[in-house]
Amino acid sequence: MYWGILYSIAIFSLGFLDNIKGALVHQQNHEPQNLTPLIEQKVGLDFFMVGDYGWVRNMTPAYLTFDKMNEIAGNKSDPRNDIDFFLTMGDNLYSMNSTNPSDEDFDIMMSLFYKRDNLKDKNIYAVRGNHECYFEDDMIEVNLTKKYPNWQMPNLYYSKLFDIGNGKKLGIIFVDSCLALCSNYSFADDHNSSRTPHDNEYASEQHFQLVDRMCNDPRTLDLGAEMFQWMKDTMNQWDDDSSIIWKATVQHHPLFGKWYQDYAHLVSDYMPLMLDHKFDFYFNGHEHTLEYANYPYSQVTSVKQNAELHTPKGRLMDYACLAGQEMLYGDEDRNQIFTQGEALHQFTTGSTGFDLYLVCPALPSMGRYKYTQNIYHGFSQVHVDENEFTVKFLGVDEFTNDLIELYKVTVIHPGTNKQEQEKDQLLQE
Ligand SMILES: *[C@@H]1O[C@H](CO)[C@@H](O)[C@H](O)[C@H]1NC(C)=O
Ligand SMILES: *[C@@H]1O[C@H](CO)[C@@H](O)[C@H](O)[C@H]1NC(C)=O
Ligand SMILES: *[C@@H]1O[C@H](CO)[C@@H](O)[C@H](O)[C@H]1NC(C)=O
Ligand SMILES: *[C@@H]1O[C@H](CO)[C@@H](O)[C@H](O)[C@H]1NC(C)=O
Ligand SMILES: *[C@@H]1O[C@H](CO)[C@@H](O)[C@H](O)[C@H]1NC(C)=O
Repeated sequence: MYWGILYSIAIFSLGFLDNIKGALVHQQNHEPQNLTPLIEQKVGLDFFMVGDYGWVRNMTPAYLTFDKMNEIAGNKSDPRNDIDFFLTMGDNLYSMNSTNPSDEDFDIMMSLFYKRDNLKDKNIYAVRGNHECYFEDDMIEVNLTKKYPNWQMPNLYYSKLFDIGNGKKLGIIFVDSCLALCSNYSFADDHNSSRTPHDNEYASEQHFQLVDRMCNDPRTLDLGAEMFQWMKDTMNQWDDDSSIIWKATVQHHPLFGKWYQDYAHLVSDYMPLMLDHKFDFYFNGHEHTLEYANYPYSQVTSVKQNAELHTPKGRLMDYACLAGQEMLYGDEDRNQIFTQGEALHQFTTGSTGFDLYLVCPALPSMGRYKYTQNIYHGFSQVHVDENEFTVKFLGVDEFTNDLIELYKVTVIHPGTNKQEQEKDQLLQE
């Protein structure tokens, strides 16, 4: 940026002198040698997020997006293309037999990673989606590591701390949202709220009825209760660890939706836990779209009332749901910048390889929607270091094979002296 300014000043001064002299001396090369940009060194971590992709009946859309990721990872012109790993948002596999996936199904899905030169060595941190929750053997993807060592899924839920340089860390909690949705955990009970047991029974009945998960197995209730206890323990531990400067969760189901309604149980019982522990990011799939919404921290005091108002009353059928949409919700800026702590940011990456969902732009949501699109298949590219966390939605045009940068959100870590500098720089880009 500074060189750019100096360079402009230099050009301006020369032009000014030229005018004074009334002479035309523009043919000489003004570009001083030291303006050549330095080759940037890689800082921090970079990764791809993919969701809802292993559709074995027709892999064409997934080939399109994975080929593009392979190209990006092989393009050395930007150190941020030096990808370290993948995160998957679940629905990794839509098997031919929906309850009993075959080895062949998994081979087809895993070939997306293994058959591409620039992707084949990358670790893949995975969670289950609702389609994996239909499998009879609920540990089948956890066991996949035996055959595919890059597949990192030590359990249905787990956490990992990633080094991002200078002793700083990104903490990610990998959550099984099938278990979360089926669990009887209640944030209100946990905090001695005045909600009566009757409210909870009602809420449970309601959330058990919502589509797309299997809650009838009593094992899910036990595992769900264990998982929430583990989540709280992990979050408490992380509160005491000042090296963890970014906190995220990865799971399949969204808090906020534009096809499905907001998941009431996740919004009213899981989200407050994240807000209590100052989480920054909620990464999910499930809706076959790319969507960004946030929940401002300034709104936290009203979360309980909102959650109670939001008890589901059945699908709202009268909202028009449309194909081929891109919505910016009145803010045309595709490059959004926040300071850490302003909001909990939800990114839906669910269009990496299956069909594209309709979206219902006017469907009410507790999330503050900023972006949704269901035109292109796509994925997300993330950069994180101690100063910033950037998520880019990338789409691929299936006719021209062009890569399209659709939307970008940057969150700046406060308290670093680079903060203002970077914000200036980003605003000028
Ligand atoms: C690599 O990326 C740069 C900038 O992002 C782009 O201009 C260039 O065309 C890419 N190269 C290839 C081979 O895709
Ligand atoms: C799926 O596989 C199971 C176990 O092999 C079998 O019992 C079931 O009939 C299959 N379902 C379908 C729809 O083929
Ligand atoms: C997965 O691993 C567990 C423990 O190692 C084992 O009990 C289970 O049978 C395995 N399942 C499959 C499908 O391999
Ligand atoms: C809730 O109430 C119980 C019993 O009075 C108490 O032991 C517990 O510490 C309270 N929990 C919170 C989060 O206030
Ligand atoms: C929730 O489920 C767990 C595991 O089945 C059980 O131990 C616990 O009592 C249940 N809690 C409530 C509030 O129903």
